[in-house]
Amino acid sequence: MTTENPDHSTAYVQRFRDLAAAGHDLVGEARMVDAMLPRGARVLDAGSGTGRIGGFLASVGHEVVGVDGDPVLVAEAERLHPGARWLVGDLAELDLPAAGIDEPFDVVVCAGNVVTFLAESTRTEVLRRMRAHVRPGGRAAIGFGAGRGYEFDDFLADARSAGWAPDLLLSTWDLRPFGPESDFLVAVLRPA
Ligand SMILES: C[S@@+](CC[C@H](N)C(=O)[O-])C[C@H]1O[C@@H](n2cnc3c(N)ncnc32)[C@H](O)[C@@H]1O
Repeated sequence: MTTENPDHSTAYVQRFRDLAAAGHDLVGEARMVDAMLPRGARVLDAGSGTGRIGGFLASVGHEVVGVDGDPVLVAEAERLHPGARWLVGDLAELDLPAAGIDEPFDVVVCAGNVVTFLAESTRTEVLRRMRAHVRPGGRAAIGFGAGRGYEFDDFLADARSAGWAPDLLLSTWDLRPFGPESDFLVAVLRPA
């Protein structure tokens, strides 16, 4: 997308600045993840974008590392949320111990349809790498919408192949249950 439209990232940044300035709630996903965690937990924000989720979680006392492939968005995350650590990187090659970040995470949050932007060939590998960065007993919370080229059943099968088991399936970040008619999935996963 950024190759086709070089202004895509700056327009995306501006859109979120405008939403924040207009008083929109941009941290609903983060509030759900916060409720899953003890205080001072370790959070990996996978595909962190402008840092709206990890930034909130850092502001309430968690240790946050965010990784995103887009350097423009990572720069915005650094500007807005200096209390977290933001890295440019490809989730398909995620290896935080190689960057000196050895301690595993209590949760991986992956919101905002990130998994639907992944190349199909890398989906399971990304989920496997997320799994490798979570401590025993840790979890992932991954949310995305229907109609974006990644069927929910395919995602759940990929997650199982990557070493995750579904803990709780929701249809919204405010805890409504997932069902056959749902057009959004929030998958809370645990290591299988
Ligand atoms: C719609 S944005 C969501 C950003 C953020 N999670 C949020 O909800 O505000 C999708 C993000 O996924 C990132 N992304 C997509 N594929 C990626 C990959 N392979 N590695 C790292 N980041 C990726 C994009 O750069 C983009 O910031």
